Amino acid sequence: MTYADYQNEIYFNGLRGVLPSLPMTYADLEPPAQAAMSPSVLSYVAGGAGDEYTQRANVAAFQRWGLFPRMMVSPTERDLSVDLFGMRLPTPLFMVPVGVIGLCTQDGHGDLATARAAARTGVPMVASTLTVDPMEEVAEEFGDTPGFFSLYTPTDREVAESLVHRAEAAGFKGIVVTLDTWIAGWRPRDLTAGNFPQLRGHCLANYFSDPVFRSRLAKSPEDDPEAAVMHWAKIFGNPLTWNDLSWLRSITDLPLILKGICHPDDVRRAKDGGVDGIYCSNHGGRQANGGLPALDALPAVVEAADGLPVLFDSGVRTGADVIKALALGATAVGIGRPYAYGAALGGTDGIVHVLRALLAEADLLMAVDGYPTLADLTPDTLQRIH
Ligand SMILES: Cc1cc2nc3c(=O)[nH]c(=O)nc-3n(C[C@H](O)[C@H](O)[C@H](O)COP(=O)(O)O)c2cc1C
Repeated sequence: MTYADYQNEIYFNGLRGVLPSLPMTYADLEPPAQAAMSPSVLSYVAGGAGDEYTQRANVAAFQRWGLFPRMMVSPTERDLSVDLFGMRLPTPLFMVPVGVIGLCTQDGHGDLATARAAARTGVPMVASTLTVDPMEEVAEEFGDTPGFFSLYTPTDREVAESLVHRAEAAGFKGIVVTLDTWIAGWRPRDLTAGNFPQLRGHCLANYFSDPVFRSRLAKSPEDDPEAAVMHWAKIFGNPLTWNDLSWLRSITDLPLILKGICHPDDVRRAKDGGVDGIYCSNHGGRQANGGLPALDALPAVVEAADGLPVLFDSGVRTGADVIKALALGATAVGIGRPYAYGAALGGTDGIVHVLRALLAEADLLMAVDGYPTLADLTPDTLQRIH
């Protein structure tokens, strides 16, 4: 079985008159998935910062690169596996942290659906701090696929440590600290709808189930949910500085990855602080509308990382995008909104379909263009187009 075989499965089903029930392209996936979401979830998932220029630029950046086709290679077998933090993963994909993925599925348990999709595909989930179901229950669904926990660092260090230690106990294989969201960016769609899901009490299970968080409250979240939400809002965002890195490093022996890094100097400081991985991302253009596509930041980040693994996300929509990010030096590539829309349309099956389609397209691109392994995808396999 290769990832490319997904197309044979679909064509052979077609011979029996069975057509795919889920869209085959991102362009066809987005409208029905958005229609399946409630307006408040939709504005949160689809929207970005400012006029969403950066969000669009993230996607457009991939089209400025083209991959050289190489002939007389004809790799009948391709190897898409990667080494990451001492683990061998079957594919270079991972599912990015999406707070509110829990609300994206029709049953309101999208975190569990994502974890089940990870178990079925071998594509790891990076679970958000903001989940409908507590991290322990999410981790139980991972099967043999490793999972990662992404931390929104609260100002209350003991709550932060408690979350990290729970993640360790639940079997997560790495801690991703998201740096770019200590304050929410200016998001006109959500502002127009007066909507911030967490303030409405959504996706706070990791906090409400946390013994240290609970110890800070006069009444339990069950007895006084409003006060619990207000306390959450008070401690949610920690304006971290490089001085905090030694503390972050000290609270876990798991691989520590910093998310939101786009400048080579920040990579060097992270390396000096003893991190295990760099996560190059501009949060899908949801946080700052500064205009630099994450993909354009990637080559310098990879160079400064100097061998440290570089995870990448922001704007990946196709299997070709995955290949280009890998060729520019990413070790692993994060899928964001496409899987959220898969979740909205088809729950676990929808996510699995999105991932299989991306993998099939990437695998077939490697086959047709003559790249047997990910190591063959070096920067000089790409040419800047315009
Ligand atoms: C609805 C939504 C919620 C998100 N929540 C989180 C989160 O909780 N933690 C985090 O680190 N990043 C979060 N992100 C950012 C993603 O991890 C990732 O950086 C981004 O989705 C990549 O952009 P793309 O979806 O356009 O490809 C969120 C993104 C979306 C779309």
